[in-house]
Amino acid sequence: MVLVAFRRMRSPRILAAGLMLVAGVTIVAACSGETSSPAAPADDAALVQGQQIYSQNCASCHGASGQGGYGPKLAGVVAVKYPNIDDQIALIINGKGAMPAFSKKLSAEQITSVTRYTREVLGKN
Ligand code: HEC
Repeated sequence: MVLVAFRRMRSPRILAAGLMLVAGVTIVAACSGETSSPAAPADDAALVQGQQIYSQNCASCHGASGQGGYGPKLAGVVAVKYPNIDDQIALIINGKGAMPAFSKKLSAEQITSVTRYTREVLGKN
């Protein structure tokens, strides 16, 4: 009896500790995602801006390096899948399924910058 009661008491604690560990790892992963997106060439202001926009708006779902996560992998994929950049820009403006629309959050210029960043920098470093 005592042992059963002891077990019943312990398992929720282990569960809580497990949940805290998962939360901690998630927070660390989210924070590192903010800072470690591949560097854009410093002489291309639009790509540098694109890197910043990507880290702040896209990395949480698509991964810091565009390797995928909640959203699909972008690195090395998008330029092939969307030979015409305008098709990719339209998807980011309008959203698709669980992918949010960015027409209200980002300007047309910012969307072009981040789209170029996903095509020209991600998957190339
Ligand atoms: C809330 C999570 C989330 C955020 C934030 C997000 N995306 Fe997505 N994205 C998705 C999901 C999910 C899909 C898959 C949509 C589908 O095909 O149904 C997707 C699809 C895409 C695609 C098409 C990929 C393909 O293989 O066709 C591109 C390009 C894209 N996202 C770019 C971006 C960019 C750029 C940003 C930041 C400005 C961004 N996403 C922010 C979740 C997200």
